[in-house]
Amino acid sequence: MVNVAILGFGTVGSGVAELLTKNGAHIDEKVETPVRLKYILDVRDFPDSPFGNKIVHDFSVIEKDPELDIVVETIGGTSVALDFTTRALCAGKSVVSSNKELVATHGYELIQLAAQEGVSYLFEASVGGGIPILRPLSQCLAANELTEICGILNGTTNYILTRMIHAGLSFDAALAEAQANGYAEKDPTADIEGQDSCRKICILGAIAFGRHIYPDQVPTEGITHVTLADVAYADSCGKKIKLLGRAIRQPDGRVCAYVAPHLLDAANPLAGVEDVFNAITVKGDAIGDVMFYGRGAGKLPTASAVVADVMDAARHIRSRKRMEWGPGGDDVTQSPDGLVCPWYVRARGTADGAHAAFGDVSCLARAGAPCEEVAFLTPPMTRAALNEAMGTLTPETVLRVLV
Ligand code: HSE
Repeated sequence: MVNVAILGFGTVGSGVAELLTKNGAHIDEKVETPVRLKYILDVRDFPDSPFGNKIVHDFSVIEKDPELDIVVETIGGTSVALDFTTRALCAGKSVVSSNKELVATHGYELIQLAAQEGVSYLFEASVGGGIPILRPLSQCLAANELTEICGILNGTTNYILTRMIHAGLSFDAALAEAQANGYAEKDPTADIEGQDSCRKICILGAIAFGRHIYPDQVPTEGITHVTLADVAYADSCGKKIKLLGRAIRQPDGRVCAYVAPHLLDAANPLAGVEDVFNAITVKGDAIGDVMFYGRGAGKLPTASAVVADVMDAARHIRSRKRMEWGPGGDDVTQSPDGLVCPWYVRARGTADGAHAAFGDVSCLARAGAPCEEVAFLTPPMTRAALNEAMGTLTPETVLRVLV
């Protein structure tokens, strides 16, 4: 028998309880031993829930129970979650987490601690919701020299952009829908300002390139400045706006990692990824390009990945399931400022001003544009060259174009 405790009975935690129960027979058969939910830790009581009798309020009950094998951390954040994860690992319990902020910030030390204690620390659900990506990246693609990871890593922002593109919805209305569907973080700032994608590209980059990448090493831009005007201009040139997280290995071995909205050609497979779906493309020297696609947020898709980790930890209860990388450092990353690409610019100014500043630009059109507005695609250049060339134009939205 393997006993499990869930920390946090929110969207993901309740999904994990539901899935462990609903598919209990199948799970026990696959693990070859009964997997039982013993405790749920939350500050609240849930008298009307079928799991109400499992609620405890004191973590030390879980920590000190010698029969408790696996702790599922779905609390989120880095304060209480770090404390409980550390204590659970030190008490010899494996920990399964959906907490990308914790993994991106403290993953290296928690992995080291788990190794020292001979237990597992697994976090498949921290990236891509229900999409299997961390294991395929670390195991199935292990023979490759990986060069780039690029993905739509946040369901909430992809949902918002999709609703803006297809329904002409305002940003706020689309965000409210995403929150009602349970996709957004407690504070959706982390979604819309790109920090959630940032944490996920840190984890993907660490697995792919072997060193911890900290969120503050990854320049991050969200989608709050993207307007319906930008959506219309992108559409006029056969492109879609998507928030991408990228990690690109440079010739010197450093990783250029960043998060920003991009214009993508409609023919790019990532452009067709809509609603809450996420997709991650990986480039390797043997595989070429490979893409992972599925539901990137939501109760049961995320629970699917958590419960699979619980099953994996349960199968390795007396050994350790490895998912690891090396320490971080100043020598790990490189600024994206040196990356050369075409740019989309919407500015106050004129087409003549755009030509004078950038030479051969493609000007874009949209219905109802004010006469003092100009939008265009530049030739490939660095960010510094773009800023320097701006001339008489006052930029309002500037986005990279993915090539
Ligand atoms: N808020 C996150 C998202 C949840 O929208 O993708 C899944 O990590």
